[in-house]
This record gives sequence, C-alpha cells and structure tokens, in this order.
Amino acid sequence: MVTCSAPGKVILFGEHAVVYGKTAVAVAIDRRLYCSVERSDDGQTRVNGHPISETYHGYTVEAIRKVDIREPLNITTSSDIYSGAGLGSSAAVTIATLGALHRLKGEAPEEEDVARQGFHIECKVQGSASPIDTSTCTHGGAILVSSKKLRNFLWKMERGGTSWNVHEGSVPGDMTLVVGYTGVHAPTSPLVTRVRNFCARNTFARDMVNEIGEVVDEGCSALERGDLERVGELMNRNHKLLKILGVSHPKLDSLVKASGKYSYGAKLTGAGGGGSMIALTDRPEKVAKIISLRGGVPFVSGLTHKGLSLEKDMINIQ
Ligand code: PMV
Repeated sequence: MVTCSAPGKVILFGEHAVVYGKTAVAVAIDRRLYCSVERSDDGQTRVNGHPISETYHGYTVEAIRKVDIREPLNITTSSDIYSGAGLGSSAAVTIATLGALHRLKGEAPEEEDVARQGFHIECKVQGSASPIDTSTCTHGGAILVSSKKLRNFLWKMERGGTSWNVHEGSVPGDMTLVVGYTGVHAPTSPLVTRVRNFCARNTFARDMVNEIGEVVDEGCSALERGDLERVGELMNRNHKLLKILGVSHPKLDSLVKASGKYSYGAKLTGAGGGGSMIALTDRPEKVAKIISLRGGVPFVSGLTHKGLSLEKDMINIQ
C-alpha cells in the first residue's frame, strides 16, 4: 500500500479572475487529505469501499487514466478539509491520488509534472480551471500566479490561449487568517461555469474580472511590503467585486461583514456560492467567536510548506 497526502489551500486574492489569466495568490493550509492505494483482487476498483463512478469520483477516475493503471485498485481517502468549501479539497484529492498512483507504479515524477497533470484533470472535470489550486497543493507554501514571469518562478501552464506563470509567493510571516465555513456545500464546477457564461454575454462581467485583476496586483504589492492594513482593504474590495460577479452567498456576506469589526479585511475564498470566507486579523479569537455566533464554523488556519508528500510506501521499500 502507498499513502500520499496533499494540503488544502485558501485563496487570498484573485479567485475566478485567475481562470482568465489574472493574478492570484493562495497559501497551503495545515489541513490535509490522505490517499492510500493498493492493488486489489476484487476485480473492481473501489473508492472508500464503493465501486468507482465517474459521477462521484470524477477526479480519481481521471487520475487513474493519467497514470495509466489498468488493474483494479483499492483506494481509501481521509481528510480534514471540508469538501465543496472553497478549501481546495478537489485539488488535494487529485494531487494526493496522482502522487500515490505514480509511486504504486514505481514512478517518481517531478513536482511540476504532477501539478500539470492535476491542472489538466481539474480542467476536464470542472470545464475550466486555473492552475492555482493544484500548484498550491503540490508545492505547499504561498503560490503567486501571474500572466508575467516574475521572481521565484516555478513553472508555466497554458490552456486554450491563456497562460499562467506559477511562482513561489511571499506573504508576511505574522499573518493570521481565520477561516469561516458557512456549512453550505458549493462544488466549484457550477460556479466556474456561471462566471464563464456571465463573462461570455456581458461586458460588465468582463470589466469586473479586469477590476479584480487590478485589485489583486495591488494586493500582491501590499503583501510584499507586509502592509496588512492595505491587504485587508483590498480583500474587502475583492469580496465586493466577487459579490457583483454573482459568486457570493448571503451567509458569506454575513460572516465577512461580522468579522470586519476585528479584522484588517475579509472575503470569500475559493469558488464561493457558499463554502468559506477568510479574515485577516490579529485578534483571531474574537473573529472566531463572531463567526460562530453568526452560524459559521471557524478555524484559525496555520500555513504549511508541506505540499504533496509520501506518507507510507509498503511496496517500494528502499
Ligand atoms: O473552490 P475551490 O477551492 O475549488 O477554488 C476554486 C478557485 C477558482 O478560481 C474559482 C477556480 C480555479 O480553478 O482557479
């Protein structure tokens, strides 16, 4: 049996607009998904005991195709990343599964190759995607995606005429984030499709995407300077623009508003439509309490530098 793990993530700035090539920044969080794989003599591939299905296990089906394993497998996952919560659970399952499957085959691909395979899988399953989630899950730490090639460049991804340069990002060491989960399950794919359709028929939506791009570029400079006040203001602005783009939810708006009292700023994180928000604060207990009082589930999120990791390999023991 081989077990790999990958972290969840939060997007500090730029979700949705990043799908169209705008800048975005994400950080890996200290919540992980573990995927164990082993060959099976059951005659059928199972995921957590259930026969594998395109409907319920789309990312896993595609990962098996990419790694090209044809024998039946037993796949088990466990995770403390809420799913459909904007915290990168789909990217984490994709990347941890790819890592474990490659290792089961005796392969040790480069980080960049796994991130690329993961990105292609997300594009296929979700219809469109950017490489931010899969790159953050694979590499860990902070990830900055930009149309320009900057310092600390990691890799470049291209798709349908859009290109993304993926870099190691820099975030202030003293940054504390509180995540508030609304409890509203909101898978990424329909929200990405909603924004794509909105942008296809409406110049106003495309203007919003461009404006998010400008806010995020300024947010990146503020992050580099360690100017938390300005980062917070720009997070608030980014949230308002995402709301206009139609991807917020009344519960997200309520948690963002309530945490404003004790935060530099707050915004939804990930695809939206429910899912989670983040608040940048130096009073995490106060923010967590107010999120709970408003019906959200808070946790103080530590950042992790641990990306895709091999946890256990009972097959290729060296
Ligand atoms: O909700 P999540 O964790 O899957 O994040 C989605 C981020 C988007 O920008 C909406 C899509 C993407 O692929 O970048």
